[in-house]
Order: sequence, then structure tokens, then C-alpha cells
Amino acid sequence: MKIKILTLFPNMFNGFLSESIIKRAIDNNLIEVEVIDYRKYSQEKHNHVDDTPYGGGAGMVIKCDVIDRAIEDNKTNKSFICLMTPQGEQFTQQMAIDLSKKDELILICGHYEGFDERVRDYVDKEISIGDYVLTGGEIPAMAISDSIIRLIDDVISEESPMDDSYINGLLEYPQYTRPYVYKGKAVPDVLISGNHKNIREYRLKESLRKTYLRRPDLLEKKELTKEEEKLLKEIKEEL
Ligand code: ADE
Repeated sequence: MKIKILTLFPNMFNGFLSESIIKRAIDNNLIEVEVIDYRKYSQEKHNHVDDTPYGGGAGMVIKCDVIDRAIEDNKTNKSFICLMTPQGEQFTQQMAIDLSKKDELILICGHYEGFDERVRDYVDKEISIGDYVLTGGEIPAMAISDSIIRLIDDVISEESPMDDSYINGLLEYPQYTRPYVYKGKAVPDVLISGNHKNIREYRLKESLRKTYLRRPDLLEKKELTKEEEKLLKEIKEEL
């Protein structure tokens, strides 16, 4: 897969692309990420890419012709083009899974006051990472890329993405590591029992408990298995 990111601030991506799992995925050719500066597509002196808004008001608006040229120069017949905007569809784990199956993504970042409305005509999808406004689309593009890249085959070990919160519609079960006791609080005995059947059931039950207590809305959307229904009944009785 290839991700192309169009931005006014390419340096913001340096840390993101040069550390940890994302760096390793790039080094191992599991993913290609290209960060492209809009200024390359300016046709004005000093490489200006934005202008004052028609009708007045604060701030500058990224010009539609600049973004159009950037898209046209970078898209292929495999590209799926996403615009980062707080007005877009809310990003979810399911959207990350769907986008991770595309051959090529183009992520378009706005900045400050945003972009000319006509840019919306050139994209396949508008995405928001949450109901808050950031200074630009760069952090959303990093968040979206990160969640997609970790789902690509071999980027992280086989089984761990499948345990993720949200993948099976539940929040993740609690995890512990050494020391066994810390500040008087011990690790649940079942986890050191070596009994894999009991450990699996404990984890499923704790996933259900967390989801029931923190995100009951997720449980309403999920079809529970017989085992899950039984565990949830126990959880409610234990409250
Ligand atoms: N740009 C600014 N805020 C944003 C958000 N919440 N999601 C996506 N893009 C944005």
C-alpha cells in the first residue's frame, strides 16, 4: 500500500515516520509513505498557496487550484482520496479496516481556516477524527495513517490487532506484567495459573465488563454469543 499526504507542513511528519512501528514498516517495505508539499503546485511568486476569503473574515484559505493540481499530479487509477476535515464522517476502527484494504490513499490536509469549498468535489471521502477542531489536518492524517498501517499484514505480530479494542466490538481486556504485586495490588491469579481455557474466559469476561461499564453503546450494537450472554449476566449480578 502507498499513502500520499498533501500538506503545507511536511516537516510535521518527520517524527511520525522515523520512529517505532511506522519506521519499521517503511524500512521493511510493507508500506510506502510520501509527504508532498502543496507549495510545489503554487504558480505564484513566493510559492503562495492560500489567499484571503471572499466575503471577508479572518485567516487564509488554501486555494482550490493548488489542491486540484496536487491531486491531479499524484493520483493514479487506484487512488482513494480523503479530505481531513472536522465536517467529515467520524473515523472509526471499521473505517481504518476498510481503508487498509485500498492500494493507494491520498490524504489531504487543510490548515488554519481551511480550504476552498470546491475542493470537496475532488475527493472520495471526508473524514473527521473527532468532534473538536485542530489547527490543521496533519495530526488527523497521522492518526488515520497510524491506525491503517498497524493493520497491514506483518506490521505487527499476527494475533495482536485482533485483540484490539473495537475489533470484536468490545473494549480490550486488562493486561499486566511484572512485578506480581505493586503497591499492594496483585495480578489476578488466573493469569498465572497457566490454564489457557480459564485465561481466555477471564479475558472475555473482563472485556465485556469494561465495555458494559464504559461503553454500553457498543454492547447494544453487538450480537452476543451464548457464552458472552452468560458472562454478561454474571457481571450484572456481581455489581
Ligand atoms: N482538521 C481540523 N480538525 C479536524 C478534525 N477533528 N478531524 C479532521 N480534520 C481536522
